[in-house]
Amino acid sequence: MSTERVYIFDTTLRDGEQSPGASMNTEEKLEIARQLVRLGVDVIEAGFPVSSPGDFESVRRIGTEVGDAAVVCGLTRAIFNDIDVAADALATAKRPRIHTGIGVSDSHLRDKLRISEETALERGVAAVKYARNLVGDVEFYAEDAGRANPEFLYRMVEAVVAAGATVINIPDTTGYAYPEAFGDLIRGLMENVTGIEDVIVSIHCHNDLGMATANALAGVRAGARQIECTINGIGERAGNTAMEEVVMALKQRPDVFGVDTGINTREIVRTSRLVSTITGIRVQPNKAIVGANAFAHSSGIHQDGVLKERSTYEIIDPVDVGAGGSAIVLTARSGRHALRHRLEELGYVLPDEEFERVHTAFLELADKKKEVYDEDLEVLVGETERTVNEVYHLAQVHFTSGDPGIPTATVELVTQDGEHLIDSSHGTGPVDAVYKAINRLIQVDNELSEFSVQAVTRGIDALGEVTIRVTSGDGRIFTGRGAHSDIIVASAKAYMNALNRLLVSQIPTVEEEL
Ligand code: KIV
Ligand code: ZN
Repeated sequence: MSTERVYIFDTTLRDGEQSPGASMNTEEKLEIARQLVRLGVDVIEAGFPVSSPGDFESVRRIGTEVGDAAVVCGLTRAIFNDIDVAADALATAKRPRIHTGIGVSDSHLRDKLRISEETALERGVAAVKYARNLVGDVEFYAEDAGRANPEFLYRMVEAVVAAGATVINIPDTTGYAYPEAFGDLIRGLMENVTGIEDVIVSIHCHNDLGMATANALAGVRAGARQIECTINGIGERAGNTAMEEVVMALKQRPDVFGVDTGINTREIVRTSRLVSTITGIRVQPNKAIVGANAFAHSSGIHQDGVLKERSTYEIIDPVDVGAGGSAIVLTARSGRHALRHRLEELGYVLPDEEFERVHTAFLELADKKKEVYDEDLEVLVGETERTVNEVYHLAQVHFTSGDPGIPTATVELVTQDGEHLIDSSHGTGPVDAVYKAINRLIQVDNELSEFSVQAVTRGIDALGEVTIRVTSGDGRIFTGRGAHSDIIVASAKAYMNALNRLLVSQIPTVEEEL
């Protein structure tokens, strides 16, 4: 007997991007979309086209590039103009889907939309009919369904199904539900809505009470066949259902769920790292499936058990999610062949030019460290793959500090025209001195709002990774990330990364110039 299929709808690029500080440019979104295709997701929600020219462009480019490898979806409100713009953005997509909807809870009807149930129903139906004239695949979301009156929800869903919706999304927008109640809500729909058997029921859970994954799984048990989720669980407020968690729960417990996804689970860790690198949102070490400690055993009793038989303390084989450890130890003496081989084992088939860049960075690092681990390589590849256009390139940074002593830094930047700029400054510490020197050269209004340092690799000679957030004069937040075995250099790189993003965002687009 073949197992039933549950579709995975990834909204990292839309709801995930709504995480504060996670905004991505089009190139970065494309890079994630390509990885989502490798991961095997069924649907990519690529953005909210009417919200900004950047979102429009991302949906357009992802739709064009993904071809028939996945459905590409654009979000809209139940507003005709939103739907027209989404249809335009999806015009070149092979498998376009418009995701439209309206609030259905009393709170949304009364306090946000200020309309009656009847008006909401009319608008929902009209939006679905309008969208169906433009594309064949229309998903309807009943916003805040988790807090809605079930009787009204049934009426709304029945009406939009009759109007032509192909997928019905039941979001727990505020993360209010708990598994039993959310399962009952989905079961209630299955039992009370005429026509529900002809559409796919989707669930979209938020994590405000830490139950997004549990609620999504309860929804699947009750008959939902599409899960909306994000990589690493990023998203508005406390985030969304984490893709890696639901997918692995379904895979590990066929006895409970009896459904399959089309996900190539071996791509999970790589996807998680890519999203974390690009958004600057770190994964907590104890995060299920993708955290650095997810497969680490510390207590002597556990180590003894695992060494005798892995399954004594591990329910998932790390290899199944792409987290397999490696026995190959790379050092400065390893040749190009060994490096390329290891990179390929990690899934990075790099064009020659890019490989050369990674090789050079690898040699520099290997000179400073005894061993270069897989995590180091991931960082090196991530650095060379990062696609921020550099308005200024950090050519060198030099600093002194001590006690007593005045922390002082000198920085050299190169402009896009090849001009070399040098300046120095002192500060309260070496990082402060470096940042002040950079600010003397790049005179752009910004304020450092967050600074964190973390060792991303193992050992005393670990690579330090610095993540920062700066707020521009007009209040926008830009994330910057830099890795180096010297954390002051990593700090300088992170600052330059954030300032370059800020500066790139200020360059007028061709459309704005016209
Ligand atoms: O949480 C939510 O309700 C949403 C909808 C727009 C689908 O993100
Ligand atoms: Zn949401």
